[in-house]
Amino acid sequence: MKSAIRTTIAMAALLGAALPAAGAEPEGKEVFDRYCIHCHGPGNETPGTLQLARTRGKELALLTERTDLAPEYIRHVVRHGLRSMPAFVPSELTDAHLEALVRYLTAGR
Ligand code: HEC
Repeated sequence: MKSAIRTTIAMAALLGAALPAAGAEPEGKEVFDRYCIHCHGPGNETPGTLQLARTRGKELALLTERTDLAPEYIRHVVRHGLRSMPAFVPSELTDAHLEALVRYLTAGR
């Protein structure tokens, strides 16, 4: 009986460890909400949205509503930064995160 319980616990631990790995593909929206939304959120109070409204026009201010951003351009801006926007290094935002972001920001086309 004891060993059956031990086996069950061990299996649960194994399953628990396996689950996050199975779902390792990051979700674009989660990445955006964690790394981008505080500057590119809706409303005109976040610096990215505000700056894009000033320089590109109101209709291009919100990244999540853009349909004109090329995947290559998004990758470039994220990796190199743009004026007051900081660059994100792979140790902070991985290539998998970046690809999920690109899919998220180009999904509505
Ligand atoms: C600290 C604030 C900040 C953060 C965090 C930030 N941005 Fe930006 N972003 C800006 C600003 C400000 C601009 C406008 C730069 C300029 O003056 O042209 C911008 C511009 C951009 C542009 C260019 C849009 C265009 O029309 O040329 C893209 C694409 C972009 N950001 C994507 C992202 C993504 C994706 C993230 C998250 C990984 C992110 N940004 C995080 C502040 C930020």
